Amino acid sequence: MDYKQHNPVPLPKYGQHHTIRSTMDTVFDWEYSLKEKKLLQLYEKGKAQTWNATQLDWTTDVDVERIAHESQVDVFMNTYMAPPKTLTREEAVKLRVNMNAFMLSQFLHGEQGALVASAKIVQTVPWEEAKFYAANQVADEARHVEVYHRYLTEKLGVSYEVHPSLGTLLEDIVTDSRWDVTYLGMQIMVEGLALAAFGMMRMIMSNEPLIQDITARIMADESRHVAFGVLSLQKAYAGGFTAQEMKEREDFIIESAYLLRDRLLMHQVFERIGWDPKIWVKWMQESKFNQAFRQMMFSKIVPNLKRLGLLTPRVREAFATLDILRFENDKDSVEQPEVAPPEELVSLLMNFLAGNTDVQQSAPA
Ligand SMILES: [Fe+2]
Ligand SMILES: [Fe+2]
Repeated sequence: MDYKQHNPVPLPKYGQHHTIRSTMDTVFDWEYSLKEKKLLQLYEKGKAQTWNATQLDWTTDVDVERIAHESQVDVFMNTYMAPPKTLTREEAVKLRVNMNAFMLSQFLHGEQGALVASAKIVQTVPWEEAKFYAANQVADEARHVEVYHRYLTEKLGVSYEVHPSLGTLLEDIVTDSRWDVTYLGMQIMVEGLALAAFGMMRMIMSNEPLIQDITARIMADESRHVAFGVLSLQKAYAGGFTAQEMKEREDFIIESAYLLRDRLLMHQVFERIGWDPKIWVKWMQESKFNQAFRQMMFSKIVPNLKRLGLLTPRVREAFATLDILRFENDKDSVEQPEVAPPEELVSLLMNFLAGNTDVQQSAPA
């Protein structure tokens, strides 16, 4: 892995290194019963489907400004996203390029979180089968960090530091001493959101072949990781919870959902491009398109929590406030490991690509 970093990733407030102390139990499994067939199948699949970053075509000329121009990004934004002022082509291109760089940067930082969290699971999970799979996931996550970092620094040249909300959530996940909470935070919440976000990225950047290839490979890995989380937690939660244990998990889910929602407001983008964040973050919060876009990020999280029996009245109440309960009857990651972009967004983009810019009423509400 030899590549040029044209533009290093900016550092967050922590500086280069961020050291956090945690105490947890490390568990050996001397029985090696290896009875969990579904986890073992996932482990075999993970090994068989390993790929290398060298298989990607890094000679691809990535010119996102040209791509944004070609896809008439100003027409799309002005038609569907109701910006506070009509955007010129140049402004819309600047916004799209920075929003993409922001999203991809948070993917990178989330991948580092996943690398550390899956290594922690190797130590803390009590079953050997799950240690095997988590070890396989560790190798996947290292590769994901590698390719996103290379894409951002060698190809895009624009990147962002970790969003404070994502940083807080990753810290919560890796410091919690309860191993199931690591799974819940990383495999169900962070990776569940990432799966939906990757699906969006593939659609938005449909005319950039390198990011298409990267995203398709990573999505295939991530769908296994989410399935790993669901399978492991189903087994762990089969015995039920005390009221206090349930309350702790509900609190964690609700707090994580708010942190993940906040990181999608992209405050830093508007600061970087010099647009008043008060006006533009308000737009991110209030415009129907942006609200729908953010809600769709939860389209895998909600059915997966339901499968785990964690869509309790308290969680439902919080999710109703976030307006994401409508995904509860969607297929979960065991029923459908692959992720398709939400149908309403597909039809919106298809309409646009077909030249029907007069279909604002079909925008997700
Ligand atoms: Fe990953
Ligand atoms: Fe992952």
